[in-house]
Amino acid sequence: MSLASLFRPFTCKTMTIPNRIVMAPMTRSQSPGGVATDAVASYYARRAAADVGLIVTEGTGVDRPVSVNDANVPRFHGDQSLAAWKKVVDAVHAEGGKIAPQLWHVGSVRNMAPDWKAPGRIDSPSGMSRPGKAFTDPLTDEEVADVITAFGRAAGEAKDVGFDAVELHGAHGYLIDQFFWEGTNVRDDRWGGSTIAERSRFAAEVVKAVRAAVGEDFPVILRLSQWKQQDYEVKLARTPEEMSSWLTPLSDAGVDIFHCSQRRFWEPEFEGSNMNFAGWSKKLTGKPSITVGSVGLNSEFTASFRGEGSKPASLDDLLARLETDEFDMVAVGRALLADPLWAKKVKEGRTEELADFDARTLAVLT
Ligand SMILES: Cc1cc2nc3c(=O)[nH]c(=O)nc-3n(C[C@H](O)[C@H](O)[C@H](O)COP(=O)(O)O)c2cc1C
Repeated sequence: MSLASLFRPFTCKTMTIPNRIVMAPMTRSQSPGGVATDAVASYYARRAAADVGLIVTEGTGVDRPVSVNDANVPRFHGDQSLAAWKKVVDAVHAEGGKIAPQLWHVGSVRNMAPDWKAPGRIDSPSGMSRPGKAFTDPLTDEEVADVITAFGRAAGEAKDVGFDAVELHGAHGYLIDQFFWEGTNVRDDRWGGSTIAERSRFAAEVVKAVRAAVGEDFPVILRLSQWKQQDYEVKLARTPEEMSSWLTPLSDAGVDIFHCSQRRFWEPEFEGSNMNFAGWSKKLTGKPSITVGSVGLNSEFTASFRGEGSKPASLDDLLARLETDEFDMVAVGRALLADPLWAKKVKEGRTEELADFDARTLAVLT
């Protein structure tokens, strides 16, 4: 198959990338005290130097007491953390790459390690981490407003630090997704409701705050998923109509690019069509989209946390879909951990040289 559809430029507002390859956001927990190290900068710069079009960083915590649940996850507030991020940005730019931080709030997903103690009260729509009994109080209206402000402030800092775009983590069962999901959002005020459109209000307000902070020209990406780490089978939208009522307010609020997370990119979103989530998102909103999930590998990513590896797999289906513009970009996760030169080797047709993904890679920054 021709690689032309993968290696053509893409422009969104002020950002042009030379190809359609995005490094997927991947938490590495190698930033002690929430401050990215020089090794983190080199890790990203290596991928930028080897033809990755856009790097989306690992999730990085906005300014709330418990926005992340691991002391080694980088923060996106405070002079030290932001200065460290500037070094990362400069290192990536020096290699000709583009980079966006993934702004994150884990909400009620707790760290279950015996030695972890939350450094404050846990933020969540209804005090639950999964459907069932609440373990803490819901966010008050005032706190909701503070979380929204924190996202906006972080986005403004991202632009000031020199990032090329910003991504909001609205997927996988973390805070923004906890508002979307009826299983974790049982509020009866303006932040809840029986429809997905009503439960999208929080995310829409976050997007508006982000847009207000970065201005009209700066690309804003929103990552979404139907699946949750709490339940892989959940669907926020069971029909295209429901998906439209989920995504349209977000698009209107100012999202430029939807990053549509699946565990296997080729799985159809609805019966009766082969189109995947990113395809539907693009069709329903008219906005560009990024697909992700097992690109170039023969098994899905959650198995890697149980120590399972993965082997290189054909890109033909992906290339065929890119050729028809089902979606605009493709995020690559583990394949880029396994092989920093993945994009370059693909571009040069050196697929025989692609490395297997070994789960032990997760422990180190290479
Ligand atoms: C080690 C690791 C950490 C991850 N951390 C994040 C994260 O911080 N934010 C996020 O949105 N997704 C995260 N993901 C999911 C990836 O972005 C991606 O969606 C997933 O790995 C599927 O892509 P792949 O099959 O190409 O690996 C992580 C995945 C892995 C393997």
